[in-house]
Amino acid sequence: MVLRRVDSTETGASPVDGSDDDRFSFERFARHPFFKEVNAWLVSRVGLRKDSCVVDLACGPGAVTELILQHLDESVPGAYVYAVDPSPSALELARQRIRSRIVRFVQGSAEHLGGLVPPVDTVVFTNAIHLIADKFTALEQVFRTLRPGGTLGFNTTFFNGAYPDGTMRFYKLWVLRAMRWLQEKGHTVTRGVKATAMQWLTPAEYSDLLRSVGFDAPAIELQTKDMTKESLEDIGSFSLFIEGALPGVPLELGAEALRLGVRQAFAELNLSSLPRNWLQVVVRRPALPATP
Ligand SMILES: C[S@@+](CC[C@H](N)C(=O)[O-])C[C@H]1O[C@@H](n2cnc3c(N)ncnc32)[C@H](O)[C@@H]1O
Repeated sequence: MVLRRVDSTETGASPVDGSDDDRFSFERFARHPFFKEVNAWLVSRVGLRKDSCVVDLACGPGAVTELILQHLDESVPGAYVYAVDPSPSALELARQRIRSRIVRFVQGSAEHLGGLVPPVDTVVFTNAIHLIADKFTALEQVFRTLRPGGTLGFNTTFFNGAYPDGTMRFYKLWVLRAMRWLQEKGHTVTRGVKATAMQWLTPAEYSDLLRSVGFDAPAIELQTKDMTKESLEDIGSFSLFIEGALPGVPLELGAEALRLGVRQAFAELNLSSLPRNWLQVVVRRPALPATP
């Protein structure tokens, strides 16, 4: 299954193709309490201080930027957040949501981060690394952006290990039901096997990748969250998810098909919720050796 690249310019600052539309934003999914919990947990583990200088990479509509701001003190010199995302509409939503003089919104992509922001203490990178084809370059850019001793925290629920035992059949049925509905409406669909995302790594592969870039050994944790039917319907309305699950299907139609598909799969499998694993990773750029 293929997800289109979202950037094509030198800074990666071009709009996210035709999908740059509020109706298909990530915002609805980001409001679910379990989602806030996984992100709040990560943000609480990256060692933020009142005066930290932070990048919120792939900030989307700004839910995590808000969590970061809770740890900083606007009145302390040095406290600052660069909220970076390639999507103009996501940045616009984030701007409307966050009014803080210590936040600057920057349009651009992870693969070009070093040229977009100055060196920082911390990079928080939630729910986006799976969308990036060239993860080595993105992580290398994060490494360059971090001051020596700085911390990266990232998470994703699109990795090898995300599906607790017995839950894979839901995802297969979901996409099958969505495709059946589209076909009934006269649309041809090429089968997308995994519902979303480009390249799924195992936790061990993430660990190896981080080490190859130069990071210390990461602290890795899996957390299981129960996803409600409504939350799955909401992720099914997110543009990048639709493009991954139903490649080539217009977003409006794809969102409708995925909503119906969730409802049918929940009913057929008699589910009340669905457990799903999040991968939480915290890792440090090594500090400089002490000078004698
Ligand atoms: C699922 S949202 C996550 C938003 C936010 N971090 C959160 O957890 O609520 C993924 C975001 O990644 C952004 N994104 C996609 N490709 C990216 C890239 N190459 N570099 C940085 N961000 C990217 C998208 O525009 C989108 O806003």
